Amino acid sequence: MSTFWSIWVSVIVLGTIFGCWWLLLATRKNQTTNTETDQTTGHSFDGIEELDNPLPKWWFYLFVGTCIFALGYLALYPGLGNFKGLLGWTQQNQWEAEVQQAEAKYGELYARYGQTPVPELAKNEDALKMGQRLFANNCALCHGSAARGAVGFPNLTDNAWLYGGKPENILTTIHKGRNGAMPAKGLMPDMTAEQMDQVVNYVLSFSGREKDAEAAKAGAAVFAQGCAGCHGADARGNQQIGAPNLTDDAWLYGSTYDWIEETVTYGRQNHMPPQEGRLSDDQIHILAAYVYSLSN
Ligand code: HEC
Ligand code: HEC
Repeated sequence: MSTFWSIWVSVIVLGTIFGCWWLLLATRKNQTTNTETDQTTGHSFDGIEELDNPLPKWWFYLFVGTCIFALGYLALYPGLGNFKGLLGWTQQNQWEAEVQQAEAKYGELYARYGQTPVPELAKNEDALKMGQRLFANNCALCHGSAARGAVGFPNLTDNAWLYGGKPENILTTIHKGRNGAMPAKGLMPDMTAEQMDQVVNYVLSFSGREKDAEAAKAGAAVFAQGCAGCHGADARGNQQIGAPNLTDDAWLYGSTYDWIEETVTYGRQNHMPPQEGRLSDDQIHILAAYVYSLSN
């Protein structure tokens, strides 16, 4: 704040307080009596008259008290333009002190859980409760509050894993984040419409839902050429690159002909943001235990 505005604010604030003070004392001095009487001010309206009594003492002293309080407050805390107050209080340092307090309190707890192996921690009720809260605040936005996922966001409660469900896989996923990338038309950029129909039918045939058995049969060759490199010859996926298993009943996107055709036609780009740096290692450890517990 510039000096001008600083003085402007200070003058208005102090002027108001001293103005109130003056008003209070001035009206008291002009009183004709200091005790309660039946005397009126002389105003009368519709037979209603105004008594001319002094302010009650408690009220007077309360008012004086508020003026003194205001001055004391303004001396200790920031309120007068650029004057920082004798206590040096700021929102920033109050917040920092509270965070420090919370860290001293929870950091120790987090650290204790951070040393426990994930599968063991996944049986600890208190740790799981903490994990659930961390999940609600940091992960539920995408994965859902019950961690069951949505289109494009994997369900974390089943046993189908894009990147693996072992403690070390889950820890890596949360620390480093993940990028799932499937190129349009897989490894066959000039796939024909017929081949597209064949390979979609072939994928559907893994779960016995092909529309056209002939096409599905022909799709095996297309799959071998355009898809097996990532999804595996047996279509059971590859957790190194997050290529999903196409033979189970867990689907990241829809499982119908149209959905699969869309996936193959346009490809998919998916991103799980890394939590390293956002959350502490111990918090990530607790989250990993929570995620692990959902399917174990
Ligand atoms: C911005 C959305 C978003 C947030 C926030 C998010 N995730 Fe994810 N997560 C994803 C997406 C998308 C994927 C799938 C990535 C892919 O397809 O390659 C994923 C994948 C995962 C996987 C791998 C699942 C598998 O099958 O291998 C785990 C585990 C996971 N997330 C846990 C978490 C946890 C724990 C948090 C909270 C700290 C979290 N995620 C926060 C979007 C998110
Ligand atoms: C370069 C590796 C790669 C190739 C080649 C590839 N895919 Fe994929 N595919 C992926 C990845 C990775 C995902 C997961 C994308 C994500 O995380 O969103 C995926 C997802 C899918 C899905 C969605 C699965 C679900 O659960 O919803 C289908 C269906 C699919 N691929 C079919 C195919 C077919 C058919 C081909 C061949 C034409 C093919 N893919 C070629 C890597 C590949």
